[in-house]
Amino acid sequence: MILFLSLLGFVLASIFVYLRGKYNELYWKKRGVKFHGQNKFMGIFWDFITQNRPLFQIVRELYKQYPNEPAVGFGALFTPSLYVRDKNNVQFIMQSSSFVDRGFDYNDGDQLADNVLFMNGIRWKLMRQKMTPLFTPTKLKNMYYIMDKSGRDFIEYLENNPEKRKGNTFDTLTTFCCAAIGGAVFGIGSKSTFESPFLECTRGAFYPTFWSNLRFSLSNLSPSLFKMLNLKFFKEYEEFFIGAMKQVFRQREQEGTKKHDFADICLSLQKSGEMKHESGFKMEPTDELLAAQGFFFFTAGVEPAATAVFGALIELGRHPEIQKKVQKEIDEVFEKYQNQLTADAVSEMEYLEKVLNESLRVHPPIGFLTRRCVEDTVLPVGNIKIEKGTKVYTPIYDYHHDPQYFKDPEVFDPERFTDEAKQEMACIGARYAKLQVKSGLAHILRNFDVKTEVHKGGIKFGKDQVQLRMKNVDVEYIPRKVKFS
Ligand code: HEM
Ligand SMILES: *[C@@H]1O[C@H](CO)[C@@H](O)[C@H](O)[C@H]1NC(C)=O
Repeated sequence: MILFLSLLGFVLASIFVYLRGKYNELYWKKRGVKFHGQNKFMGIFWDFITQNRPLFQIVRELYKQYPNEPAVGFGALFTPSLYVRDKNNVQFIMQSSSFVDRGFDYNDGDQLADNVLFMNGIRWKLMRQKMTPLFTPTKLKNMYYIMDKSGRDFIEYLENNPEKRKGNTFDTLTTFCCAAIGGAVFGIGSKSTFESPFLECTRGAFYPTFWSNLRFSLSNLSPSLFKMLNLKFFKEYEEFFIGAMKQVFRQREQEGTKKHDFADICLSLQKSGEMKHESGFKMEPTDELLAAQGFFFFTAGVEPAATAVFGALIELGRHPEIQKKVQKEIDEVFEKYQNQLTADAVSEMEYLEKVLNESLRVHPPIGFLTRRCVEDTVLPVGNIKIEKGTKVYTPIYDYHHDPQYFKDPEVFDPERFTDEAKQEMACIGARYAKLQVKSGLAHILRNFDVKTEVHKGGIKFGKDQVQLRMKNVDVEYIPRKVKFS
């Protein structure tokens, strides 16, 4: 009997998988869109769950496999899903009001997930509006001294801890970025930030584990199932993070000083009461809601920024000529400003910026973007009808490595013109991040030469959802022979 029932269950499940897969295939065929036939039931997510590769590498195969298609449909259980390859279609998506949502779903009570990256619709619009004033050029100039201090602290840390100069480069860089963002954006700064509990939190939040990858896949495959199971993304960090933010807010209230940072913006939002959108929509700026924004700033400020520094150091460490040239520029600016860098001084390092631009091209910290259609529309190239609820995936890494857009894309050449701004336009922190990354690089290269060691087998990637986590490669810091006062 039991054998019979399990056999029956297996047969029914197989029929379901087959029929659903067939449905997914017909869904796109009917719209005249090429369908990726491998695993019609859950497409790229099956590979992501069962293989030891990051998702960006899996979508990259679609990019290579269908060079002439404007878009490729794939099976994703109950979510119509489309990998959009054509650049004009991608531009259309990024500018269209039909695709405002990123399409992350999160459940009530997942307080830290209620942040500006995950939010949808009108709540996102309002929250984003309120957070935008954080990184005006004037504010950045005002907070630069904190970024600079964390750069100098980092050099001291490397000088005092020689074992940190070789191996685990990425982890060591995240300590720097964590200290910098903690100081600049939240006013929590001291040397002890190198062993900050915030670091554990930001490292853990997006660290790929089997479970977190499964959860992420499920949120893409079936939002309603995700909701039914009441899954949460960041529950385990809630108590610590919200508690810490409340402490920052209350302390700031008592001190009554203005630092023009994130905490200040939060307090002034709370003082003005309910936040209102011109459509009439309202939202209460509670400690919890504001802490969730802070949580995302922290996670955004640490790993992607550390990846940006890491990518630049990797390239400089294997291109000694370019390293010498950028060090020469850095030295000149340090001397011009008597070793006291300002935001303007950093902006004078134009070659450094070219190096950073080019290394962000070769090693973008985020591999692709997603959007969800909120009203039926049509993609211009291929005349593809898109229904509300469809999820689209758009390339970043693939464009950056496509010879059609960048000649000899694997060659690191800071002199090439790279215009990666388009994709970063959505990033509130882009200006802040660039300044922080350049400042960190300037301090590191002022004091150390770097040498890259790619271990046997070449650069590998962690099994991440949207990020690129470079592995099997390290950068060694070698104190420079020339010593400066
Ligand atoms: C080098 C470092 C960074 C990189 C490469 C990066 C990249 C990105 C990208 C590609 C997006 C767009 C995501 C999308 O449209 O789906 C984004 C969004 C965002 N980033 Fe960054 N980011 C970095 C640093 C930061 C920092 C330091 C902060 C804040 C302190 C920040 C805050 C945000 C926010 C709030 C959004 C969402 C904006 C919105 O919803 O409109 N990022 N980032
Ligand atoms: C670096 O890239 C940004 C964004 O595309 C661009 O505005 C800037 O001019 C570039 N910098 C240099 C020095 O090429």
